[in-house]
This record gives sequence, C-alpha cells and structure tokens, in this order.
Amino acid sequence: MNFLMDVMGSHRSVRNFRDKDISSDLMNQIFEVSQWASTSNHLQAYSVIVMREKDKKKSLSELSGHQAHIAECPVFLVFCADLNRIKLSHELEKKSMNFNFVEPLLVATVDTALFGQNVLLAAESLGLGGVFIGGIRNNPHEVCDLLNLPEHVFPLFGMCLGYPEKVNEQKPRMPLSAVVHTEQYDNEKLAGLIQEYNDTMKHYYENRTSAKRSQTWTDYVSELYKEPRRVHMAEFLKDKKFGFN
Ligand SMILES: Cc1cc2nc3c(=O)[nH]c(=O)nc-3n(C[C@H](O)[C@H](O)[C@H](O)COP(=O)(O)O)c2cc1C
Repeated sequence: MNFLMDVMGSHRSVRNFRDKDISSDLMNQIFEVSQWASTSNHLQAYSVIVMREKDKKKSLSELSGHQAHIAECPVFLVFCADLNRIKLSHELEKKSMNFNFVEPLLVATVDTALFGQNVLLAAESLGLGGVFIGGIRNNPHEVCDLLNLPEHVFPLFGMCLGYPEKVNEQKPRMPLSAVVHTEQYDNEKLAGLIQEYNDTMKHYYENRTSAKRSQTWTDYVSELYKEPRRVHMAEFLKDKKFGFN
C-alpha cells in the first residue's frame, strides 16, 4: 500500500462539517490536479460551479430533497456534464454539429464522473471530507435557473465538501469476487455472494453508531426501483439538447 491507496481505501461519505472554510487557493489546487483525469477524446466535457453563498446553498439544499448537509457544508460543488465548449468550438470552426444521439451524453457523464471522483479523492487526501449529491437532479430545471446553466450543460451531481466534524464507519463493499470476473462474466456465482453480502450489511446496519436499522442489502436495493425514479430526466435532457437517438 502507498499513500494514494491508503486514501482511496479510507473513503467514507462525510455529511457533518466543522465550521471552517476551505480557502479558494486550496480548492483551486484540488481542481487543477483533478483536471488530469482521463477524458474521452480529450473533450473535457464537464464544468464545476463552486457554491459558497449561504442563501444559494440553502436553495440547493431544498431543491435536492432538503438535505441539510448541502446548506451546512462550507463549499458545495455542482458538477455539470458540459458540451457547451464543444458546441462553441464547432461554431468557431464554422462546422455543423449534431449532439442528438446518446453517445455525447455518455461521454459527458463519464468525463464528469471521473473529474468528480478525482476532486473527492484529492480533497480526502488533504483531510477534507465530502459526499456526492445525486439529489441535485430532483429539480434540475430550477437548479439550471439558479446557476444560469446554458443549453448543452446540465447538473449531473453535487458534492458537499468541508472539514469533517463526524466520521462514520466505512460502509462495507461487495465481496470482490462478485465484482471481478475472469475472462467471462460468471452469473452463476452471484446469488450466493449477494447472500453473503446481505449478512455483512445486516451486521453493519445493526451495529453502526448512527441510524441503526435491521436491513439487508437486497432488502434495501429492491425498494429503490420498485417505482420509476426521476422520470423527468428524459424530458429535461431533451430540453438541454442532450439527445437519445
Ligand atoms: C452519484 C452519487 C450520488 C449520491 N447522492 C447522494 C445524495 O443525494 N445524498 C447523500 O446523502 N448521499 C449521496 N450519495 C452517497 C452514497 O449514498 C454513498 O456513497 C454510498 O451510500 C456509499 O457510502 P460511502 O460513500 O460512505 O462509502 C451519492 C453517491 C453517488 C456516487
């Protein structure tokens, strides 16, 4: 193990923050190093909006399902999938452009996720903590208005960052053998491994320090998609000129 692997292997989401700011210099160092994330075709199809103003963070907190940690963290980041610079490049080169198919959407979301994970890891390496926020997609039109996002740019996820007040236990991950396959996908082994993981997660939920509950992993995830979630996203993405053909 080395320092980087120690940092990666120590991750847990942090939702409680000390009343201590993160300097702009430090944030810029984090962003600079995170920009070295690999990027499809060197497109760099992402942007990040840095939110520090209390009122705006409060609004975003409400728009994201009333998640208090968004209002309380010193820095809230909104990571946007961004094809706007690619559009401008086509205009500068006087070339026509067609984003109305699914591949640019995939490219921009993958690029944004790679950049975002780098940001969290860099922050964690500096003693900061944070949590991704998918709740930012609960009311995406309102978020776009608040942040003045143009067409071809949409908020993919947020991230609370700050100095940790409270650090939770790590949440156990799947057995590696359920995730890693050799040469071909082995569907046969999965049911048993998931059952094994159910025991691990039940023990974790029953024994963790806060929000204890008695639940298995399958119990939890099988609730999630009983009903369709964020169905507005398809229409929203079309409005933002991200296509599906
Ligand atoms: C894309 C994404 C969106 C997430 N959205 C939220 C969120 O809206 N609110 C929240 O409290 N946690 C959110 N999380 C954090 C996950 O719940 C957390 O990563 C997961 O439960 C594993 O826990 P850990 O990060 O502590 O290991 C999100 C994570 C990801 C990757």
